[in-house]
Amino acid sequence: MKILSIETSCDETAISILAADFVGENTSKKPAFKILGNALHSQIETHADFGGVFPTLAKREHIKNFTPILMSALKSAEMLIERTDGQDDGEFSAYITGALSSLLDREQELRNQLQEFFTKYEKPEIDAIATTTGPGLEPALWIGITGAKILSFIWQIPIIPVNHMEGHITSVLIDEERSDDNQEVLEKGLEINFPAVALLISGGHTELVQVNSWGDYKLLGQTRDDAVGEAFDKVARIIGLKYPGGPKISALAKRFRDGEFASQNNSASIPWDLPRPMITKRDCDFSFSGLKTSVLYAVRDYTKNTELHEADKASLCAEFEQAVTDVLISKTRRALEISGARTLIIGGGVSANTYIKDSFKKMIASEFTFENSEQNVTLLLPQKNLSTDNSVMIGIAGFLQYSNGHFISKLAKEHLAWDQTEFPELRAKGNLRLE
Ligand code: KG4
Ligand code: ZN
Repeated sequence: MKILSIETSCDETAISILAADFVGENTSKKPAFKILGNALHSQIETHADFGGVFPTLAKREHIKNFTPILMSALKSAEMLIERTDGQDDGEFSAYITGALSSLLDREQELRNQLQEFFTKYEKPEIDAIATTTGPGLEPALWIGITGAKILSFIWQIPIIPVNHMEGHITSVLIDEERSDDNQEVLEKGLEINFPAVALLISGGHTELVQVNSWGDYKLLGQTRDDAVGEAFDKVARIIGLKYPGGPKISALAKRFRDGEFASQNNSASIPWDLPRPMITKRDCDFSFSGLKTSVLYAVRDYTKNTELHEADKASLCAEFEQAVTDVLISKTRRALEISGARTLIIGGGVSANTYIKDSFKKMIASEFTFENSEQNVTLLLPQKNLSTDNSVMIGIAGFLQYSNGHFISKLAKEHLAWDQTEFPELRAKGNLRLE
């Protein structure tokens, strides 16, 4: 089947079109996907000066970008086809206008753009719409959900509500880099040995989840305060780096480890000594706000007497990245042992971090392979463009939900009033949990 998926939970407006199917028989049946079209607009520039994502600004940007991104995704899938049937008679127009004015009575700009889109282009060969319903910023989520409802109603196809975190977990199911030929992706699919453990590390979440099968999740532990990505972003702000800080900290830490500052025997050797919060606690929970505060105090004490040079920042970034990595590895090791997992999945924006990825690869190779242990674990990481927020992962999770019967088959006119209560699963839920 072909799924159009939408992601607007934070600062990315993203829409993709996937072909999805099951390959193999019975017990070896596995989902397989191919990306047919994909478009994404990142608002990073818009939010950089605020040091974080500003919800109402995010919503406004989603409104502006929704229709262009929709058209660009369809175009890349060769599905943006102009109508030739002359059907833009009064009746069809009135039908569209009716739907748009119920759902978008206050959003004139988006309403006009969509009216033009539906009048000009044919219904593409899409079988269902998947959209993120949470967790995330509610004003931002609302745009994706509303867009999905409109597409679902006008094209009369099912709508699949998707949990963003399930998207991050299932993002590893597409691996174009590993497959020799992209065309083959749909024919292969990826074998996953359950139970799996998913370490989800993003700007809003830090969680260890046991995955018994697709759709069957159990939370093993989570952060009690800040998320890892949030800690990266806050530490970046302390040392004067712009949002999002994760990639910038990581780059500076790498320059330090590569010895770029070794000749400057001043501060590059400062023994920053940051804590590894909760590392000895025998559970799967995390805490990163103390680590961030330790950085704040360390920098404050250091800058009483001298300036924080680039070399100091670099060594601090390396120590911070190491502290985070040590904690993530230690807690994940525990989760793998408790659950007897056979697969480790790492997802979420922070999984783009090369040092963290490499450290996990080493840990799994030395502690969870048959040569060294009875518990053999396969490590799965998302391909680079699927680590951070994207809509492809929403399409993947959407297909799995659809296959389990979790979708709304058709929206009728009376479901369009935006204060309706008929489908609570289509409400924006900022704190939606995995279950
Ligand atoms: O998953 P994501 O794109 O959005 C959320 O759902 O939060 O994650 C964004 C987070 C940001 O905090 C960003 O700083 C962090 O992921 N991030 C990184 C790296 N790339 C992105 N953190 C550390 N190292 C990176 N290379
Ligand atoms: Zn995310």
